[in-house]
Amino acid sequence: MMMEIYICYILWMLCAIFVHGQLQQGFISIDCGTSVNFTYLDIDTGISYAPDEAYIDNGINKNISSEYAYPNNLNLPYPLSDLRSFPLGNKNCYTLKPPVGKGNLYLIRASFLYGNYDGLNKLPEFDIYFDVNLWSSIKFSEASETVITEIIGIAQSDNIHICLVNKGLGTPFISALELRPLNNSIYDTEFGTSASLVLFQRLDVGSTNGSGRYKDDIYDRLWSSYMLPTWDSITTSTAINNNNNGYQAPQEVIQTAARPANDSEPLRLYWSIDDPNSQFYVYLYLAEVEQLEKNQSRKFNISWNDPPLSTPFSPRYLHATTISSPRALVGKEHWISIYKTEDSALPPILNAVEIYLVKQLNESSTFSEDVDAVMNVKTMYKISKHWVGDPCGPKNYSWEGLICQYNGSVPPRIISMNLTSCDLTGTIAASFAKLSLLESLDLSNNSLTGPVPEFLEELKYLKFLNLKNNQLSGSVPTALIERSEAGLLTLSVDDQVDDQNVCSSSSCKNKKTNYVPILAPTMSALVLFIALLVIWKLRRRRKSAKELVVSSKKHIIVSKKRQFTYAEVLKITNNFNTVIGKGGFGTVYHGQRADGTHVAVKMLSASSSQGPKEFQTEAELLMTVYHRNLASFVGYCDDGDNMALIYEYMANGNLKDYLSDTRSHTLSWEMRLHIAIDAAQGLEYLHHGCKPPIIHRDVKSANILLSESLDAKIADFGLSKVFPSDNQSHVETTVMGTTGYLDPEYYNSRKLNEKSDVFSFGIVLLELITGQPAIVKNDEPIHLVHWVSPKLEMGDIESVVDKRLQGDFDVNSILKALELAMTCTTPTSSQRAAMSLVLLELKECLAMELSRSQEKNMGLREEITTKSYNSSEVYSKDIDSMTGPLAR
Ligand SMILES: *[C@@H]1O[C@H](CO)[C@@H](O)[C@H](O)[C@H]1NC(C)=O
Ligand SMILES: *[C@@H]1O[C@H](CO)[C@@H](O)[C@H](O)[C@H]1NC(C)=O
Ligand SMILES: *[C@@H]1O[C@H](CO)[C@@H](O)[C@H](O)[C@H]1NC(C)=O
Ligand SMILES: *[C@@H]1O[C@H](CO)[C@@H](O)[C@H](O)[C@H]1NC(C)=O
Ligand SMILES: *[C@@H]1O[C@H](CO)[C@@H](O)[C@H](O)[C@H]1NC(C)=O
Ligand SMILES: *[C@@H]1O[C@H](CO)[C@@H](O)[C@H](O)[C@H]1NC(C)=O
Ligand SMILES: *[C@@H]1O[C@H](CO)[C@@H](O)[C@H](O)[C@H]1NC(C)=O
Ligand SMILES: *[C@@H]1O[C@H](CO)[C@@H](O)[C@H](O)[C@H]1NC(C)=O
Ligand SMILES: *[C@@H]1O[C@H](CO)[C@@H](O)[C@H](O)[C@H]1NC(C)=O
Repeated sequence: MMMEIYICYILWMLCAIFVHGQLQQGFISIDCGTSVNFTYLDIDTGISYAPDEAYIDNGINKNISSEYAYPNNLNLPYPLSDLRSFPLGNKNCYTLKPPVGKGNLYLIRASFLYGNYDGLNKLPEFDIYFDVNLWSSIKFSEASETVITEIIGIAQSDNIHICLVNKGLGTPFISALELRPLNNSIYDTEFGTSASLVLFQRLDVGSTNGSGRYKDDIYDRLWSSYMLPTWDSITTSTAINNNNNGYQAPQEVIQTAARPANDSEPLRLYWSIDDPNSQFYVYLYLAEVEQLEKNQSRKFNISWNDPPLSTPFSPRYLHATTISSPRALVGKEHWISIYKTEDSALPPILNAVEIYLVKQLNESSTFSEDVDAVMNVKTMYKISKHWVGDPCGPKNYSWEGLICQYNGSVPPRIISMNLTSCDLTGTIAASFAKLSLLESLDLSNNSLTGPVPEFLEELKYLKFLNLKNNQLSGSVPTALIERSEAGLLTLSVDDQVDDQNVCSSSSCKNKKTNYVPILAPTMSALVLFIALLVIWKLRRRRKSAKELVVSSKKHIIVSKKRQFTYAEVLKITNNFNTVIGKGGFGTVYHGQRADGTHVAVKMLSASSSQGPKEFQTEAELLMTVYHRNLASFVGYCDDGDNMALIYEYMANGNLKDYLSDTRSHTLSWEMRLHIAIDAAQGLEYLHHGCKPPIIHRDVKSANILLSESLDAKIADFGLSKVFPSDNQSHVETTVMGTTGYLDPEYYNSRKLNEKSDVFSFGIVLLELITGQPAIVKNDEPIHLVHWVSPKLEMGDIESVVDKRLQGDFDVNSILKALELAMTCTTPTSSQRAAMSLVLLELKECLAMELSRSQEKNMGLREEITTKSYNSSEVYSKDIDSMTGPLAR
């Protein structure tokens, strides 16, 4: 008997390993609180769980009380029988390093079962963070409750920090932490990488025999069965084809569906939430499970509250499709209704549904140079303080001994470091000098030796330096003494340190910054680029071949009527009265709609070979693309030979005109950086937030529009899709119009990728820095990169930077931006940074410039650092007060 069970078990395990073996690739499964070195295969799932010591240094292991454990609780999943609790420190973090690394989409699941592990019988309440952004608040209604929260998000770096934060309402703990890599093409939202999705409900509709975690779910999702008395269940036992559906619902889930018992009623799902600003995404899984007769049809419309979510839809027999909302569904009350169309004989069906709540990932991680510096300090002195996760984030939870400065969307900076009585030994680390905004440094009561180093002079904002009670020797650098004497620095050193000015003032002066080394690495690339430029010029006359246009199949088309007739266009533009621009694709006119809103109407030349049908489809598609840094579409006209796209009107015209205009005299470096960041955000969204990605192909300053308040938006995106350039004269004009912006590698290889846009963006960035156009009008017209590079080689930054800035900028910020522009315009596309990285670097440029102008305008920064931030206000809702779907 015993033997048989044992053999069964072995067979089962082999089976589990077989099924999950190839599916578990990239899974990280941590059984928090389990004994050291205890790695096991879970009997229920066949998934291999590991203990937490490889992921975290802090916390203590505990078992739940026997009352809640096996055998009193026979259904308890094994990983939940123990947990790790964190009585010390207000922030404790697991560091996950998934093998696929950053930029990939992951599902992360955290599970919590209190089970009176501490014998206090007091339910704790705490927060969990995804890096520096709040993920969820964890609350329990009883000791036996298992709380599970899931988040789907893109890793911003190779290390993902999952942090538990003590809010003063009990000791945080965690029972299990799991990470599953997802296919990057699924669960897309309008927010691109800047938002994540927290699971609200995941329902296996029409299933009657229980909820599950199915072996054939390659993403290891948990599905809850869902059925209503007014519904009928219909199922199939034939396999459903998931091949073209990245969502890959498990067979058991997609094979069951529900239909209304009364044929003429719709299927309805309802849920509500307290916060009216909550944003939801819904993913509906549909597959026909009944073999229909020739004369039968099943067709239905799906609507949210009232507006339709999709055009009439017929599920394919035994083929899975997933329909999602094109935009976030915002509000307190939500109704999804699926009702049959008039020509449909059969009632609607639904196989499964997932509902997610959007969490904006809008908090920044600490400035990367500060992180590197402080990490070096931590390793060098083996600091035993509780230093985990991001040094400054989340807000209010910076590392002990650090004070950070937070400033909106700019990465936080470290401005004070207190390492008093930390048993520091050895010399003073050079890394301290890398904390360039440091105002206060307290290293007192340690065993530091060696001299007071000169590099401390580089900390130009330093106002407080305490080195008392150490074994330092030698002399204090002159510059520090001078600043102390001028009352700019409070300096405390031991008596044995000679604070006489012993070195000659020249050797102690700050060395002039040498620009050449910083830019040197880009030089060789430049030479290559110039060579390519020559080749390119020689080839210019050759015809450009037809280019591949990525075509997109979206099932969802925005239904709001936004098609205009030619007569309406005539009226809106007052018979094409005012021309406001001319581009490769046609002339742009000013217009005003009946409701008074101003619009820009772009008339497209009628010579396209593309049929009107494709034009309409693409125009509709473009209208579903929405981002605040993309000029939004108002509508389109497709009336005979007349085709037009209607955009929102931007009061300050385009960046090219603005930069060449006298108004640009008032355009500060900070404003220019804001414009660059806006444009980069728009592009980043097109590249990484749109599925499939949209490559602009005509990024240039003339296509960056400025609003009244100088917010920048990218225009003409996707136009190359609407209007593929297959007409000879048209190609000529496009190439002419974009000379200077065109990626030489793309031009030569005709192989298009998003790095071509990065090249063009690099040119725009150079225009912002230099104030020169892409083709500089010297005696001989010269390419901007060609104009800049010899000057950089000479280290002559002054003549590169726009004179109109009058030297009013942070030199390091400009240098970093220049370096970035040169990286973007590297001839080899693989060496160019992706837009997400470009964006990050630009934000750091802005941070540098802001801290300079702040210093200049406000003097000291104390007010800001003492301001208190309440992160709980930022996020509105926790999982507890949400009510699940129920039908009406
Ligand atoms: C865990 O494994 C490592 C390496 O195999 C070993 O050095 C260590 O002693 C083990 N720890 C315990 C508690 O068994
Ligand atoms: C938890 O229970 C396991 C199995 O009974 C035991 O080996 C382990 O030492 C316990 N852990 C703690 C922290 O008590
Ligand atoms: C539900 O029923 C089907 C068919 O009877 C069976 O194959 C499946 O394993 C059951 N699922 C669960 C979760 O019990
Ligand atoms: C992701 O899903 C798409 C279909 O939506 C598929 O073509 C692609 O191969 C999948 N990628 C991976 C890595 O499975
Ligand atoms: C089905 O629904 C329709 C419309 O709501 C209603 O008129 C009809 O009485 C219902 N039929 C049954 C059998 O309940
Ligand atoms: C559909 O065709 C079947 C025979 O193939 C017939 O029995 C049935 O009445 C038809 N139904 C309708 C609604 O015409
Ligand atoms: C379904 O939607 C289409 C347009 O999307 C509309 O024309 C049709 O009237 C709708 N059908 C019903 C029954 O509402
Ligand atoms: C550093 O912390 C100690 C106590 O931990 C405090 O006495 C000292 O004033 C702090 N230094 C600064 C500069 O705030
Ligand atoms: C982040 O977004 C939330 C709304 O989702 C907002 O309340 C908060 O102010 C934003 N934080 C930052 C730093 O922009």
